[in-house]
Amino acid sequence: MKLKAILIGCLALTATSMKADELIKVRTQDIDLILKVKDDGRLTQSYLGKKLRDEADFGWLEDGREAYTTRGAEVYFEPALDIVHADGNPSTFLRHTGHTTKALGAGVQETVVTMEDQKEPLTVRIHYVAYTQENVIKTWTEIQNRQKKSIQVKKFASSMLHFYRSGYYLTQFNGDWSFEAQMTTLPLAFGKKVLESNLGSRADMFASPQFILSLDQPSTETTGEVLLGQLGWTGNFRFTFEVDQQGWLRVVSGINNEFSERTLQPDETFQTADFYFTLSSKGLEQASHDLHDWARRHQVKDGQGDRMTLLNNWEATYFDFNEDKLVNLMDDAVRLGVDMFLLDDGWFGNKHPRSNDDAGLGDWQATSAKLPNGVGRLCDAAREKGIKFGIWIEPEMLNRRSELFEKHPDWVLMFPNRDPQEFRNQLTLDLSNPKVQDFVFGVVDGLMTQYPDIAFFKWDCNSPIMNPYSPYLKDKQTHLYVDYVRGLYSVLERIKQKYPRLPMMMCSGGSGRIDYKGLEYFTEFWASDNTDPVERLFIQYGYSFFYPSKTVCAHVTTWNKLSSVKFRTDVASMGKLGFDIKLTDMTKDDIVYAQEAVKNYNRLKPIILEGDLYRLVSPYQSTHAASAYVSKDKRRAVLFTFDIQPRAVEQRHNVVLRGLDPNRRYRIQEINLMPGQDTWVKNRTYSGDYLMNIGLDLFTLNKLNSRVVELTEE
Ligand code: GLA
Repeated sequence: MKLKAILIGCLALTATSMKADELIKVRTQDIDLILKVKDDGRLTQSYLGKKLRDEADFGWLEDGREAYTTRGAEVYFEPALDIVHADGNPSTFLRHTGHTTKALGAGVQETVVTMEDQKEPLTVRIHYVAYTQENVIKTWTEIQNRQKKSIQVKKFASSMLHFYRSGYYLTQFNGDWSFEAQMTTLPLAFGKKVLESNLGSRADMFASPQFILSLDQPSTETTGEVLLGQLGWTGNFRFTFEVDQQGWLRVVSGINNEFSERTLQPDETFQTADFYFTLSSKGLEQASHDLHDWARRHQVKDGQGDRMTLLNNWEATYFDFNEDKLVNLMDDAVRLGVDMFLLDDGWFGNKHPRSNDDAGLGDWQATSAKLPNGVGRLCDAAREKGIKFGIWIEPEMLNRRSELFEKHPDWVLMFPNRDPQEFRNQLTLDLSNPKVQDFVFGVVDGLMTQYPDIAFFKWDCNSPIMNPYSPYLKDKQTHLYVDYVRGLYSVLERIKQKYPRLPMMMCSGGSGRIDYKGLEYFTEFWASDNTDPVERLFIQYGYSFFYPSKTVCAHVTTWNKLSSVKFRTDVASMGKLGFDIKLTDMTKDDIVYAQEAVKNYNRLKPIILEGDLYRLVSPYQSTHAASAYVSKDKRRAVLFTFDIQPRAVEQRHNVVLRGLDPNRRYRIQEINLMPGQDTWVKNRTYSGDYLMNIGLDLFTLNKLNSRVVELTEE
């Protein structure tokens, strides 16, 4: 046993063999996850919570529950791992055989706990990567078949966490196309609550792979112990929250195992998805700050880099455009002062031109009838006008009316002998097939090679997997959902290797696909096709718990004509700002306002994109909303306030800030004003103390009214 542990730990800084009741400590600045190795080798989760001050107390910790339960070793509740071994034995009993800890970089430590089945040759390694400063733990599991024949892995969770508290409050994020990330909080009681997806490619269309779990009592922004968890898997996920007869809660997170049983060949190792979590004892705000910092520093593609403002042509033209129209829109982009013009759907297909959504998808050559001089002329025009050029693709999908379908019907996910079911008139390519992976990589690589000026991709994915059958996988159909995502990652990895700084937007008919593993390859995501600013206040609020503003694309469009361009732009300025509107849909004053708003946004990017977010007034709890971004050094802040649908007679309360320095004085100035609009919010200074205790009288009783206030240290 000892020799094995030493071998396993040979690359590590520390290697430990099995001892009675040994503790394994996964620690960040504010969190402790303490695992215990019992004298019989069982691994338990002894403690998960706020960091304990005095290690001398660790000896008093209870055993807790089995850290990673297995089918057969405990039959009452949903296990983390379920395997049928080569000899048909359907049970697994894991015992700790060693663990290692090593530094992966400054402030990042990895602990790997190795376990083996008592009888069957099977190794399970649980990885925990602790990001000290950001209080995030990333965890995943490896399952290695050391048997002479294949084994069946029926369930393979990334993580299992246990809690024993007086109450549990789960916040889920669900919805549908155009109302993504709607939040609902419910108490958990005895039994099981499952959040899952079976949609395959557009996996998160009905529910996001993330949750908030408040312990003991519902948390607020500034109070309560709360865990934020997310699965890094751009495909089917499953979270099981199960409260047992004694009031313990277990949270099992992983890829959805439904129709995904894996056959693991001898010596093959299966790696689960990553599960990320943070735990705050100071409420939701701290948890979001930690996740946002972690995302920017460690997870998102170019997480520390800048983001471009843009003008998109989707809502301005839909499929109805030609070269002249696009070049004219580029002039709109220049007038607005944005960084880039983004060409959306409808530019490709010749035999089957893409003049609506039922043809052309898959044929990635410019439609000569619309663009006689190809994409190259558009790149040139953008360059001449001093802006960047970006382009829309949906490379995993195709229409039946496409040359791609005519040439390669065997590349398409379809049941044999059945008419394929379609979603938005389209089908999904079989990304488990390496040839298809090459094709999909070639869509980006081909465009980049031919048009090196392309500065941005919007990568869409409008359909779930409607016909889950892979001609390539033959008798291994249950591997499809996992192999599809792995195929996608392999393509995205190749793109990232070849074009490491290329910004890309993750889009899926809105945000039907968004998770932190995906964001390793994407710089940002499209939060929703719904750009009604009132709906956006809710959608962006939902995503703000997990994602920093620089990843949340928000565009100004013509949705909700009752709202002003100012209101729409102020909402979009809380995320990664863009426009999808013709200047002819705006008044002269709107245009002057928008030009100024873009300038302000550029100036305030270091605060909005890199600062800390304070959700001051929730749109869920009042007829108003307010959020502030505060720079890390607390010298500057930007405050956004919105009056949505106030009643004529309601009480108005001040907007009370957080996150400022009570001892500094701040000059306040309302910005993003319409031409000629006056404001009382100017030429005044307040102490941080005043602003955080008394606040400012910024809400009004006007409907769809908004304010942006800049705070600068005196
Ligand atoms: C999806 C996207 C939209 C747009 C269309 C184009 O719905 O979410 O932004 O790109 O596809 O077909």
